[in-house]
Order: sequence, then C-alpha cells, then structure tokens
Amino acid sequence: MKRLLCLLLVFPMLAAADESLIRLKEGPGKDLVIAKCAICHSLDYIPMNSPFLDPAGWAKEIDKMVKLGAPIQVDEIPVLLRYLNSNYGR
Ligand code: HEC
Repeated sequence: MKRLLCLLLVFPMLAAADESLIRLKEGPGKDLVIAKCAICHSLDYIPMNSPFLDPAGWAKEIDKMVKLGAPIQVDEIPVLLRYLNSNYGR
C-alpha cells in the first residue's frame, strides 16, 4: 500500500515536471548542487531518486556522473554528498 501511494504521488509530479517549478530544499551545498547537477539533466532527478539512495548509493551516483563527464572537482564531492544525504537520502 505504501508503494502504491508513492506511485500515485510520483506520477502527477512527473507529468508536471517543469524546471521552473523545481525547488531543491534549502541547505549548505544547494548552490553547488544546482550549478553541477543541472548541466545535463533536470534537477528533478534528485528528488525522484531520493527514496532509493542511501549514502553509498549517492556516492555511487556522483561517481557515475563524473564518469559521464560532470565537471566536478574532487574537493566538491563531499559538499555534494553532504547536501544530498541530509536532504535527499533514503
Ligand atoms: C555530464 C552530464 C551530467 C551531469 C553534470 C550530471 N549528470 Fe546525472 N545523469 C547524467 C546522465 C546521462 C544520466 C542518465 C544515465 C543513465 O540513464 O544511465 C543521469 C542520471 C542521473 C540520475 C538518475 C539515476 C541514474 O543513475 O540514472 C541521478 C539521480 C543523477 N543523474 C544525479 C546527478 C547529480 C546529483 C548530479 C550532480 C552532482 C548530476 N547527476 C550531474 C548525466 C549527468
């Protein structure tokens, strides 16, 4: 039932995915996340994947984005991870 509820909540959000409506939660690192993560795709990807990603998952995700070509410096990774885990961690 919980799963079904999630689907019901997520689908209308997907249908209404409009970049101007996407507001990430406030917190340290938010500006860096916006600068680095909206280059290739919608910031939507972050809240959309939040139910699935624990700290190890987000670390892997950042690693994957770097391999895909994201211009992220090594010293920026902890800042990104701290923001993602405290606001969008599972
Ligand atoms: C160089 C371009 C690029 C940048 C910059 C980028 N991404 Fe991605 N991202 C992608 C691509 C391409 C996919 C789709 C990958 C796939 O379908 O396997 C993706 C998919 C995702 C997904 C969906 C899950 C997945 O692995 O497919 C998440 C979550 C995500 N990105 C988060 C981020 C975050 C957080 C940042 C900033 C730290 C970021 N991305 C920056 C290219 C990028």
